[in-house]
Amino acid sequence: MLETPSHDPLIVGLEETGPQPCSLVIVGGGGDLAKRKLLPALHNLALDRVLPTKFAVLGFGRRELSDEDYRAFAREGIETYSRQPLDRKEWANYERSLFFLQGAFDDANAFAQIKKRLEEIESERGIPGNRIFYLSIPPRFIELCVNQLHAAGLINADDNTKRFSRVIVEKPIGRDLGSARQVNATLSRVLEERQTFRIDHYLGKETVQNILVMRFGNSIFEPLWNQKHIDHVQITVAEQEGVGTRADYYDRAGALRDMVQNHILQLLSLTAMEPPWALTADVVRDHKLEVLNCLRSIEIKDLKNHVVRAQYSAGKHDGVDISGYRREDNVGTDSITETYTALKVFIDNWRWSGVPFYLRTGKRLPKRASEIAVQFKAVPPILFNCDPRQPIEPNVLTLRIQPDEGLSMHISTKLPGPKVRIKPVTMDFRYGTTFDKQSPEAYERLLLDVMAGDATLFMRGDEVEASWTWITNILEAWEKSGERWLPEYAAGTWGPVEADRLIEADHRKWRIL
Ligand code: BG6
Repeated sequence: MLETPSHDPLIVGLEETGPQPCSLVIVGGGGDLAKRKLLPALHNLALDRVLPTKFAVLGFGRRELSDEDYRAFAREGIETYSRQPLDRKEWANYERSLFFLQGAFDDANAFAQIKKRLEEIESERGIPGNRIFYLSIPPRFIELCVNQLHAAGLINADDNTKRFSRVIVEKPIGRDLGSARQVNATLSRVLEERQTFRIDHYLGKETVQNILVMRFGNSIFEPLWNQKHIDHVQITVAEQEGVGTRADYYDRAGALRDMVQNHILQLLSLTAMEPPWALTADVVRDHKLEVLNCLRSIEIKDLKNHVVRAQYSAGKHDGVDISGYRREDNVGTDSITETYTALKVFIDNWRWSGVPFYLRTGKRLPKRASEIAVQFKAVPPILFNCDPRQPIEPNVLTLRIQPDEGLSMHISTKLPGPKVRIKPVTMDFRYGTTFDKQSPEAYERLLLDVMAGDATLFMRGDEVEASWTWITNILEAWEKSGERWLPEYAAGTWGPVEADRLIEADHRKWRIL
């Protein structure tokens, strides 16, 4: 492993210094996220030789685990979830950097112990005292843990000394505007914004990072990227899975809070933002913020034509019976939590005036598929498009976020033969076949960025609040509407008929994925 890794020159955005030697404390280190995502991501970084040599992980949580137990826990996670298989030699090296400390979040003494343990580990491993705290905990503990870390002298507003302390906060950041402001206020009482890394893991996905590269690394798209040439945009994040074991959280959240407030609004901001004048964290985030500030608010009178929410009922997937949402563990039989939502959204600025953005997301849909589809305006009804019974299909640029990552362009072409017959064909780029290299997982890139102090791919506090401002309006409109009934869609289908009506009212159709 390299101590100060040199970077591929094409990695734009990582600070020149690269990832710094540091310790990573995972608060909630014995939990699901650590096992499935964080520990495997770090192992992959070690395999790719980009993890600093002077590095350690200290898991902290309620579970009674020794260092040895924690290493076994990490190994299990890596064997099950890692992108690259466990490499014995590398593992021997990596496991020596893993430690665990048991303690409760409300116990000040436990945080004093973290400090003590960290100092021992840092001195054993020659780590210069740079510390990252990953709050992998339910949101209700954020305030408590941040205050405990601060009281124990573990985090301090950066005074630009040689050592850094940084905090990573997992979503959800609040459950409405008021609570998001409260979380932000807690963080900003003890930390500078540049020390705060609010994760939206979608921003770490290769295909999401590629949105800006595609738009601004090519000359052909930007001149067309506006209301003059674009008919509408569809953003779909479809999941095949149900709520699984997370109903406890999900039933209090629902699809709008869980997926739209963060992931989908981030995708929308990247698709719609003005060209930033630099790729630095604040410039990129200023431009995304502008988009969020231009979202036309959805009031109670707009609900009918702009928003659909629905819940899955019993259905089938691949012939297997699937029970309805209200039969899931920890879900009340009278729950009106939406597991699907579709929205028609307008961005009221010069570039996007009058262009609808249709957003949809849901659980228990027929497959996992996420994409951004930009549909261009139809050609004029003359020449090849003069027969209204057989209109030429418009051009569509599709950015496939996952799976089958890539992008495709739908264009019209002449069918070979003596007659002029037009057929739509697709030009396709697939990551899987074009590059012989596997894309890193989102968490790999994001953890590396925190070690380098680069916040470009993280949500700034004002961005989070702007998106909650817009979402909270819808939540309040739902509340005021007093509706106690939700449309249903059978598990394994593409959502309720109301969602089809929403888009068909504009003489458009949802794309078939
Ligand atoms: C999480 C949501 O943020 O994203 C989950 O809380 C959702 O409900 C998940 O399943 C989807 O992430 P991905 O990377 O699998 O698309």
